[in-house]
Amino acid sequence: MSRVVVTGRVPQPALEALTATHEVDLWDAEDPIPREELLRRVAGADALVTLLTEQVDGELLDAAGEQLRVVANVAVGYNNVDVAACRERGVVVTNTPGVLTEATADIAFALILMATRRLGEGERIVRSGAPWQWGMFFLLGSGLQGKRLGIIGMGGIGQATARRARAFGMEVGYHSRSACDPEVEAELAATRLELDELLASSDVVSVHCPYSEATHHLIGEPQLAAMKDTAYLVNSARGPIVDEAALARALREGTIAGAGLDVFEQEPQVHPELMQLENVVLLPHLGSATVETRTAMAQLAADNALAVLAGEEPPTPVRG
Ligand code: GLV
Repeated sequence: MSRVVVTGRVPQPALEALTATHEVDLWDAEDPIPREELLRRVAGADALVTLLTEQVDGELLDAAGEQLRVVANVAVGYNNVDVAACRERGVVVTNTPGVLTEATADIAFALILMATRRLGEGERIVRSGAPWQWGMFFLLGSGLQGKRLGIIGMGGIGQATARRARAFGMEVGYHSRSACDPEVEAELAATRLELDELLASSDVVSVHCPYSEATHHLIGEPQLAAMKDTAYLVNSARGPIVDEAALARALREGTIAGAGLDVFEQEPQVHPELMQLENVVLLPHLGSATVETRTAMAQLAADNALAVLAGEEPPTPVRG
């Protein structure tokens, strides 16, 4: 029987799968586990099932000890895990790709609709109790039909967002490290573009790439300046890919028309200037937040941890 530390609440089936064969130490609280508590609890763990709110770094790995074999992150993004530090210690890292693709693309598209149709503003007006009236020019937004969606990062979530865009009559351009399969490009009628071309020609830009040093502030002042002043920026990937101070300036000065964010640079804090602006939609990191998706993510993380503990290849290891 191995010792598995689960750093936060996860859906019951995943927990049951782990407790069936292992000793599980669960941080059973709504709030993220305090760092000191985490460092104490991981001592002697053979597996860590981690949430994206925990930093898995050399200090934590050393606190766990040499018997640690796997870090199973319950997220597709694993920028909270120091993969090199894990590798140096022979610890396998896994993530949860695939199972959250559709839910996250739904949120990206929800942000696109909310930003372009000014839905947050509308909701705030109704809830404020202020008088309002249907009017020919009341809260006019921007239509999507015939417009171009520029996708940055054309992995599974980028492609799923592109599929939704096609259903809304949009044209799709994308910028990605590698080209999509020709069949996918054909299905989505998607054109691969350089980043500057994509920024200059898109009516909506949606960010779907992973966060790393290479993508830190990938969208900053020059990139926002390159966008059309009628365009919208949406980020459902990771906060620090977008320079929030530069975005707030661009939104205030009309460099771009609007934005939608599900992720933030200093989560859960939001840049104070963004909070003052009407033309940005702010969601509290809900990309994968459906019962079905969270259940599947936790199950996949449990399967990954169980496979490594059994000496088998995990279903979704992080490579590279
Ligand atoms: C959520 O943000 C994830 O990376 O799974």
